[in-house]
Amino acid sequence: MKIVKESWPILIVSNQFDTRNDESFRLRELTHELEEEHECKIVPCLSYEDAIELLLRRTDFGAVVIDWDINRTNPDAKHSPASVLSAIRKRNLKIPVFLLTDWLEASDIPLEVINQLTGCLWKTSDTIEFLAGRIERHLIKYVKGLYPPFFGKLIDYSEEYKYAWHTPGHMGGTGFLRNPSGVALFKFFGENIFRSDLSISAPELGSLLEHSGVIGDAEKNSARVFGADLTYYVLNGTSNVNQIIWRSVALPDDIVFVDRNCHKSLNYSIVNTDTFPIYMKPRRNRWGIMGPVRLSELTEKAIRQKIKKREIIPELPRDKKLKIAALTNSTYDGVCYNVKILKRALEEVAENIHFDEAWYAYAKFYPIYDGFFGMSADEGESEKTPPIYVAQSTHKLLTAFSQASMLHVKNGGSKKVCPHELNEAYMMHASTSPQYNMIASLDVATRMMEDSGESMWKDVIMMAVGLRKTAAKISRELKARNPNDWFFEIWQPRKVKVGGEIMDFEDAPTAYLASTQSAWILNSSDDWHGFDGIEENYAMLDPIKLTFITPGINPDGSMAETGIPAEVVTNYLQGEGIVCEKTDYYSFLLLNSLGTNRAKQETLLSALLHFKNLYDTNAPMEEAMPHFTQKYPKYMGVGLRDHCQQIHEFIKEREILRLMHESFDAMPDQAMKPSEAYRNLVGKNVEFVELKDLFGRIPAVMIVPYPPGIPMLMGGEIVNKKSRAVFEYLKAREAFENKFCGYASEIHGIEKTERGGKIRFELMCVKK
Ligand SMILES: Cc1ncc(COP(=O)(O)O)c(C=O)c1O
Repeated sequence: MKIVKESWPILIVSNQFDTRNDESFRLRELTHELEEEHECKIVPCLSYEDAIELLLRRTDFGAVVIDWDINRTNPDAKHSPASVLSAIRKRNLKIPVFLLTDWLEASDIPLEVINQLTGCLWKTSDTIEFLAGRIERHLIKYVKGLYPPFFGKLIDYSEEYKYAWHTPGHMGGTGFLRNPSGVALFKFFGENIFRSDLSISAPELGSLLEHSGVIGDAEKNSARVFGADLTYYVLNGTSNVNQIIWRSVALPDDIVFVDRNCHKSLNYSIVNTDTFPIYMKPRRNRWGIMGPVRLSELTEKAIRQKIKKREIIPELPRDKKLKIAALTNSTYDGVCYNVKILKRALEEVAENIHFDEAWYAYAKFYPIYDGFFGMSADEGESEKTPPIYVAQSTHKLLTAFSQASMLHVKNGGSKKVCPHELNEAYMMHASTSPQYNMIASLDVATRMMEDSGESMWKDVIMMAVGLRKTAAKISRELKARNPNDWFFEIWQPRKVKVGGEIMDFEDAPTAYLASTQSAWILNSSDDWHGFDGIEENYAMLDPIKLTFITPGINPDGSMAETGIPAEVVTNYLQGEGIVCEKTDYYSFLLLNSLGTNRAKQETLLSALLHFKNLYDTNAPMEEAMPHFTQKYPKYMGVGLRDHCQQIHEFIKEREILRLMHESFDAMPDQAMKPSEAYRNLVGKNVEFVELKDLFGRIPAVMIVPYPPGIPMLMGGEIVNKKSRAVFEYLKAREAFENKFCGYASEIHGIEKTERGGKIRFELMCVKK
């Protein structure tokens, strides 16, 4: 592999760069030798302080050289070579670090410093050529070691400059050069992405479909790093990981157990496997945030009752278990389960357990999540523990190309998962033309987590906690000046216990909050989370998922006099170039992840404060949200506060939140299996039905409003008295969208048509 040394600069920390003496002369000679003779790039740095700052920001150094005695004349200086070294080693155990010293100083160097070094370079005794050669050799060795198994081989392959006589048709990118639009694309992405976009005709790289060769090595390495017995890379997202898992275990007419809050790919899994679903119902709080399912729903008795209530499902024989139980961990809003408790409950009732951890692939790498992710070490496992399947979108919160996901498997106590059998299901959902760059991104994501997962996530969590504290402090300060003042609250504990003392969350030390799991556990005695009857040590809030609450709902769940619907806030933020993850009626979600930095956080807080000022002064909409009024001039001349209030009053009058709550609370009757409803669709035995005619009809596809992204009705469930709230909710929503243009939300399964200047909702239903 060819290493471009210039891309891996050498950081030299010394104050001799701008002095004129013997030492500085030799330092300049060394720099010159490295640059001119060895084609290296040097980043000079004059103080230990600046070096630490640089090392926190940059991870592209190929080697570091630290002058031992910068502070010889200043023994009280804050930083030392040891603190620079410690800053490096906290994040990177492998980078070569040399101490620049001389014989006289060597005896002063403590053993713990020497232990963490690659070596010492004697300033005066070796030749400059020797010193430079030694640094370069270590740099090359280090950089070569950065390439994990598959990525390294892919680069080697592309550097062989072979003539491609195989797919993909662009053949290393040259196909694009036949047309200017193609050239534009080639220039935008750069040559490497095409040279490494290969067909499966490159046997040196192994086979994804057989999990062999270097691809197989990379998958095995990921299994080790993520704590699995078996890992497969899946290149079409966790949507497909979920399908593969179900395809590999479930047969038609099996009874399956699913969290109603699941992603739609699981609902499609129910359709594809032709199974009978029963559902776990997640708790909802007053803001509509989804919480954990009740442990009491997971007992055999509760499950048999659920089956009994669904008339079309045959009774489960006494000696049989459910085929699979699937839960979302963590939920969108960051509620994570204690999987050990779940496993003990579910192993009594299910043959397989499935955790959909699409948003949670990092949990293994930071101790605050111990015991709260699917692949956690579990001393309570026994013969009866079933296989555990975990689906993770590596691309969502780790670093991989979009759609690059992983399927992890942990064998059961007595039931092992047969890779050959699982692979048959895998191949039903995989393309025979895998994207090798995506595989490389999964391989590298694994290496990144193994080498520095803990320090990376520590930074992320510290920052998330910092933002949470700042928002809480702003709120507290404003209220201290005027008890009627307001600011956006973050959904989080209000009090924490630190060393036996109970204090406000915002006063607790950031490092403590970022490292103490108990601070994030949802307790039944706390009211901040708004969920009733929470089981002991059962669920925790993930610090990185930031749910902001907007005013509008009273602590008892009733609607407040005044309110700020979250969609107005996120519309405003959009205009300020800040894009949120999810917006609900009175809450919105932001992810504080690997790509978050302080500037981004401060921009957010200042935008929120700016919104508050505009709201408090009832600034005209065209001033507050010009991008919005340009598109929807109807709002011009209206004050921002009045605009919020109009929407709030509509939500209040039409009882939209109550209807939504009731829609999710009532489990509708199932008239036919979801797969049968789908068969009606394929057989063209379906028609669009307007809301006014919906009563008594059976939707052929699931109806999922966003927010919150949970099915109100599954295909095959009937709109009757029991599901009346769904019908009422959809009617209220239709009226809302007709009144407030610009606030249309996505509702999967609803066709919106415009007739006579009015938007009408129609649902695809099975013909009568
Ligand atoms: C809980 C959950 N599972 C699965 C998926 C699908 O993941 P992917 O986008 O990787 O297909 C999503 C996507 O949003 C999700 O939220």
